[in-house]
Amino acid sequence: MESRVRNSAPKTEVPGPILLLGAPGSGKGTQAKLIMEAWGVPQISTGDILRENKRLGTPLGLRAGLLMSQGQLVGDDLVNEMVAGRLSEPDTVRGYILDGYPRTLAQAEWLDRMLKTRANQSLGTLPVVAVNIRVGYTELLRRITGRRNCPTCQRIYNVYLNPPRVDMVCDVEGTPLVARPDDVEAVFEERMRVYEALTAPVVEHYRAQGRFVEVDGERPVDEVKAAIASAVFKLRQLV
Ligand code: AP5
Repeated sequence: MESRVRNSAPKTEVPGPILLLGAPGSGKGTQAKLIMEAWGVPQISTGDILRENKRLGTPLGLRAGLLMSQGQLVGDDLVNEMVAGRLSEPDTVRGYILDGYPRTLAQAEWLDRMLKTRANQSLGTLPVVAVNIRVGYTELLRRITGRRNCPTCQRIYNVYLNPPRVDMVCDVEGTPLVARPDDVEAVFEERMRVYEALTAPVVEHYRAQGRFVEVDGERPVDEVKAAIASAVFKLRQLV
């Protein structure tokens, strides 16, 4: 299920829209959850929304399920519409973290136009800040094949790198952990091929726009989190 803000601590700064870019397994979901808790803005993961639709058996979920299991992208129009709906919800007013979106140039250009329209309508949209999390292929493969998720609270574990206290059981919910069906090596290879062909150009799109930073995603989770926080803070000074 897609994540909403639970932490009710007062948040004074306005983080605005943050895009987390990076290859499959680079740590986008892990970092998005930490930013959400720290800054009180929602994580909007297109992958999580699609998986939830699949779980519920909606028409969107049925269409997306096969493509996801093959490591292919879901159509731009479907995903753009899904994101537009989510961004119209009131909890996005102070900002949000887009995790796994945009991942084609067509999605990025659509998002640029949509945010421009919102800004023109005086909806107070700050410019996007984009963070690319860089991780090498061997480490990505280890992270993907070791990943396990809690189906109740969506916490992310890793049997090699971040195991739960009790084998295969969520520390918080006590629920048995599950592996994603697309986290097998053959599908990972296809996801990487698709990433290089369709999503790597999105990184260049945002690099060219400025308000862009790359962080070393092979560092420990807390260090990556600190690097992202510091980069976003600095990039916001440019606004
Ligand atoms: P999606 O769910 O977005 O998958 P993804 O982009 O491939 O990314 P992942 O969720 O696999 O990895 P992540 O970067 O979030 O890493 P995580 O934090 O979990 O998309 C799935 C599918 O949905 C797509 O293939 C496509 O079909 C469809 N889809 C989604 N969005 C779409 C769109 N916009 N357009 C079209 N189709 C779309 O971390 C991975 C592991 O590493 C975990 O086990 C974690 O514990 C561990 N880890 C994380 N950080 C660290 C660290 N610093 N040190 C050690 N371990 C770490």
